[in-house]
Amino acid sequence: MTMASESTNIMVVDDTPANLKLLQEMLQAKGYLVLTFLCGATALKAAAKNPPDLILLDINMPEMNGFEVCERLKADEVLKDIPVIFISALTETADKVKAFAAGGVDYVTKPFQFEDVNARVEIHLRLRRQQLELRSLNELKNHFLGMAAHDLRNPLGWIMGYSEFLAIELKPSLTKTQAEFFDIIVTSSKFMLGLVNDLLDISTIESGYFSINRQPVDITVLIKRIVEINRVLASKTNKPIIISCPEQLPQVYADIHRIEQVINNLLSNAMKYSQPGTDITVRLRHENNEVIISVADQGPGIPEKEQRKLFQAFGKTSVQPTSKKERSTGLGLLIVKKIMEAHEGRIWLLSEPGKGTEFIFSLPLMP
Ligand SMILES: Nc1ncnc2c1ncn2[C@@H]1O[C@H](COP(=O)(O)OP(=O)(O)OP(=O)(O)O)[C@@H](O)[C@H]1O
Ligand SMILES: [Mg+2]
Repeated sequence: MTMASESTNIMVVDDTPANLKLLQEMLQAKGYLVLTFLCGATALKAAAKNPPDLILLDINMPEMNGFEVCERLKADEVLKDIPVIFISALTETADKVKAFAAGGVDYVTKPFQFEDVNARVEIHLRLRRQQLELRSLNELKNHFLGMAAHDLRNPLGWIMGYSEFLAIELKPSLTKTQAEFFDIIVTSSKFMLGLVNDLLDISTIESGYFSINRQPVDITVLIKRIVEINRVLASKTNKPIIISCPEQLPQVYADIHRIEQVINNLLSNAMKYSQPGTDITVRLRHENNEVIISVADQGPGIPEKEQRKLFQAFGKTSVQPTSKKERSTGLGLLIVKKIMEAHEGRIWLLSEPGKGTEFIFSLPLMP
């Protein structure tokens, strides 16, 4: 049994004064603070000024009917999560379906029994409270994740930088085992730094503060530069990277650093999941008002029934890195997808078991 409190605000909207009076008296007797309105437009204005915790809404009203009132509430960022319970004399299934489609959470038919209305009010208020609690716990989780990742980043950077420096400085005097130990320190700290950066990105994305800094970009120049950097890594395992692009491409409107992150992630996957001696191809083309970029490998492909796992947090598939030295977390593609969404671009894949995988994404041209 939920105890209603004076601070719980319920709005009742009905064009029949007798209905309003009845609901108001009964809800007030349960301890709720009740505000009544005879028309939708005034109720919407009042809700914008002081959002209620729940709304009881009639459907048949002159000027603006209940469906429209509800749709307007749902279109408003601040008001969209307020639970709306329809109370209507309409008993047709089609009307009930329409009410839920408009965003209602429940439907009571008139003439109503107050205990029925009250039970529904209580349950939806409880669900709403739980939703708000979960949201704030999630925010707290993102906050801690962001703080931890941020504070780990600098010391990890120092560990990686200094161990790399020492490994080079001391190289002539190191035994084989000591050199191997240095190698383990450097690769592990690189992996951890990558993971910490990914977690920091995820916490920024989840908390809604992820933003991109777009500018006109010559995408061919950018991609050639990124590929050159990756070529060094790819050549170590004999995986040539081939670029295929037309002489000229129009400028795209993008965040250079974030697009670099997308290509690096896709190239890193192509290298990580394919066999030495196979090609990786980066293709660019202009289509309608987009530039389409793809990264294709000749790796094992991703089984179709596992593809739904991609683009999800920790969404690893049965495809494992080809080298034991490589590690996999399952965050890369989620970050790639979020970056693409922020660019109003699309990302998809073509993959055939035994033949390879091609990740394709589109970037809008300069407006
Ligand atoms: N080119 C590819 N070929 C085959 N499988 C792939 C390819 N790219 C991704 N996958 C599969 O999709 C999963 C998710 O990829 P994602 O890039 O998100 O994470 P990851 O590579 O495991 O780790 P990281 O967070 O370091 O990127 C991988 O674990 C792998 O199973
Ligand atoms: Mg990856």
